[in-house]
Amino acid sequence: MGMVHVDELEVNMLLSEDVKDISSRLLLAKGHKIQSKHIRIFKIWGITEVCVHGTQGREKNAESHIDSDTMERITEHTKYIFKHVDLSHPAIKELFRISVLYRSRQGILNTDKNTPSTNTEDLKDHSICDVKKMIGHKEIKLPEMPSTAFELNEVVADPFASVHRIAEVVNKSPSLVAILLRIVNSSFYGFPSKIDNISRAVTLIGTREITGLALGISIVNVFKDVPKDILDMSSFLKHSLACGIISRIIAANKNLPQTEQLFVCGLLHDIGRLVIYQYFPDPAKTLLNLATTSDKLLYQLENRCLGGKHTLIGKYLLKTWKLPFELENNVFYHHNPSAAHHPVKATIVHLADIMVNALGLGSSGERFVPPLDYKAWDNLGISPSSFETTIRHATHQLASLETFFQG
Ligand SMILES: [Fe+2]
Ligand SMILES: [Fe+2]
Repeated sequence: MGMVHVDELEVNMLLSEDVKDISSRLLLAKGHKIQSKHIRIFKIWGITEVCVHGTQGREKNAESHIDSDTMERITEHTKYIFKHVDLSHPAIKELFRISVLYRSRQGILNTDKNTPSTNTEDLKDHSICDVKKMIGHKEIKLPEMPSTAFELNEVVADPFASVHRIAEVVNKSPSLVAILLRIVNSSFYGFPSKIDNISRAVTLIGTREITGLALGISIVNVFKDVPKDILDMSSFLKHSLACGIISRIIAANKNLPQTEQLFVCGLLHDIGRLVIYQYFPDPAKTLLNLATTSDKLLYQLENRCLGGKHTLIGKYLLKTWKLPFELENNVFYHHNPSAAHHPVKATIVHLADIMVNALGLGSSGERFVPPLDYKAWDNLGISPSSFETTIRHATHQLASLETFFQG
């Protein structure tokens, strides 16, 4: 049994896993013999690979191309990335397995392990500045909300907003129109025919979904001036996008309504870090260096060094901009979702962030897999066996989206 690309499928191959589209709609159940009409349907709905009986599949082939020395080094490095989590937990164990496989397939072997030189005691002296206080006392002027995002936020709040009204707001920004049309025409949605205007996109995808997408994109664009020596912005966007995509897929698998809302939460989950990097570049550099030399989680060092975590700073920014409370809430609790008032959505973003860090899909500055909130995980009600399919769909969608946010 193994994965086969749709272009390599042959008639009468026996399906060993259900094939579902992005909305979890069943396209063909396992046990069916694949016919040419099925291959056509898979292509129409953006399916790139399916699992069939009687073939070794791509993953095993990928592994066999790697010598045992390299494989050992990839496994060791992955263990290092996972050093702050419990490898015996079933969810983490499965994620570790997939991560080793993914890294070996992608040839990801980053061995720049820094030797820890700072012990915990030394960290006590590293209070660099009180970012929380400076923002709270308005000593730093945060960016204005972009005007398009401001208007979109009003439209989101209006349940009777017309297609025409939404299209009117989006059409004011030609760059936003271009990005949105590329997204709706990509495998992210997998529509069979081309969509060439915003009104049609709104009709097909829905008013809340398209405004949510447009809102997330216009907000991320505010932080284009983060110093390059602090952060590789394309890597940050990859991390954010991947988190949004995985959040959306998990939400769809759980049959939650408004999956786009989860995409936006994932896209904006680390926005507090962008505020830190753009407005406090020197403390940010010290913080990142400290994280490297001490082998500590960046998330935990933020509190000690900056007087506040990126989750709080993100919440502050979204609150100042008067964005929906649920978005603010999910961003604030994405590292400890069991504390959230409505934990399911925050847990989805939490899990998506852990997956993205485990796979090394971009980075927001963190080098390790952040700890899993066990209580939130237990209440989420999903199985680790679903991770592989989720990640496969996500990496496929990411490949067709990530270039849209660059340049
Ligand atoms: Fe985070
Ligand atoms: Fe993150």
